[in-house]
Amino acid sequence: MRILFCCTGTKAAPWLDGLRAALPGADIAEWVPGAPQADHAVVWAPPQQFLDEQPGLQALFNIGAGVDALLKLRLPPGALVVRLDDAGMSVQMAEYVCHAVIRHFREFDGYERDMAEGRWSYRKPRLRSEWPVGVLGLGVLGTRVAQALAQFEFPVHGWSRTPREVAGVTCHAGEAALPGFLAASRVLVNLLPLTPATENLLDRDTLGRLQPGGYLVNVARGAHLVEADLLALLDSGHLAGATIDVLREEPPPADHPFWRHPQITLTPHTSARTLREESIAQIAGKIRALGRGEPIAGIVDPSRGY
Ligand code: NAP
Ligand code: GLV
Repeated sequence: MRILFCCTGTKAAPWLDGLRAALPGADIAEWVPGAPQADHAVVWAPPQQFLDEQPGLQALFNIGAGVDALLKLRLPPGALVVRLDDAGMSVQMAEYVCHAVIRHFREFDGYERDMAEGRWSYRKPRLRSEWPVGVLGLGVLGTRVAQALAQFEFPVHGWSRTPREVAGVTCHAGEAALPGFLAASRVLVNLLPLTPATENLLDRDTLGRLQPGGYLVNVARGAHLVEADLLALLDSGHLAGATIDVLREEPPPADHPFWRHPQITLTPHTSARTLREESIAQIAGKIRALGRGEPIAGIVDPSRGY
């Protein structure tokens, strides 16, 4: 069995070592133009040339959860696209989102400013019941995040394409249910995949439907958000703030308004990182399962876009 590694922006050596240790006997190499045909590939943002040169690939293992960039490319016919299925991401996402929501709800940013300015002051405790959180996307990451928020006793709503049941979460499904879901939410957490159906979903209309004083946490993809609409809703006071981990252009240009906006907390696409060891173990397990003819989790449906 031959496996090629083709991950733009990722140091190949530790991945190759890990994959070789996990799959002894497999011939595993970093892709170079003209490399012989492989059975499987481990990829992240591969060049189109790689995909064109490897028409016989049986599976492409994406070393991330989101496959939006990969699905924009011309893929080898018949190759399965397999996403990372948690692999240590969901706990990171849960801690990131809970941190963002609690920081805002408990006004820790205000306390940090007060302390820095030598002011020993108290704020009136907020009522959790007045801070319902809506989670867009109840997949691998959204479900874990919704459950983690419910543990802190926030009222939690979730929205998915097809009906889901998550303990402690009021679930809504389908386009027709979106306005009701938004109206029930004050904090909105985005964990949708980027697809033609979800691109630009976070705009003046949808964000404007959140309860007044709303807060946005975007941890999915930058292209979900119409950035100018967020700025307008912050200016109007309808939204109180946002935590933004993903942008349309990463890194954003030096003059991007999010860098220094007083109501925006910005992080560099780091809410849930790919963990090498967990990812290698998962990919190797799936390659072995495919070899035995067994089903695997995390196969992407290109017609759905996720
Ligand atoms: P997932 O398991 O595929 O779950 C996607 C969820 O979104 C599912 O609940 C799905 O509904 C729902 N959905 C998809 N299209 C929809 C639509 N048109 N209307 C309503 N709901 C829709 O994905 P995941 O693993 O949770 O990851 C979500 C995204 O997080 C990734 O695609 C990636 O972009 C992003 N991400 C970001 C980072 C970061 O560091 N910032 C890290 C990892 C992932 P169904 O349940 O009905 O299928
Ligand atoms: C990161 O953004 C991922 O999709 O894994």
